[in-house]
Amino acid sequence: MKACTGIMLALLFALPASAEVDKRARSLASTCAACHGTDGKSVGGTAVLAGMDKAEFIKQMTSFKSGQRKVTVMHQHARGYTDEEIEKMATYFSTQSRGE
Ligand code: HEC
Repeated sequence: MKACTGIMLALLFALPASAEVDKRARSLASTCAACHGTDGKSVGGTAVLAGMDKAEFIKQMTSFKSGQRKVTVMHQHARGYTDEEIEKMATYFSTQSRGE
């Protein structure tokens, strides 16, 4: 009985926490929409982020941040995010469908 209550409590706390992460990830991702489209579904020639491999996303963002990859715009954006935020966005975008 005790163990059961423990599991119930764990679930109770786990659920709102994961919903919170998604909301945060979505709001982080929304700042990219201007150039990469809603939910990363770019239509204007910039990279499609939707469905992008998580590891590849983190690799790209990290190389923008460190200045390792020379780019025109993205180093400015990447610098504003912590590794944790990049990880959240990576999860978010990698789980978006590319559409067609
Ligand atoms: C002002 C327009 C603009 C905004 C806003 C923007 N990007 Fe970009 N993004 C670009 C451009 C342009 C490139 C191509 C590289 C370059 O020249 O900077 C790019 C490239 C990328 C790439 C590399 C894709 C690949 O396959 O090489 C990733 C990943 C990326 N952006 C993620 C993001 C994320 C995440 C955000 C939001 C935090 C964001 N971008 C916001 C313009 C933008």
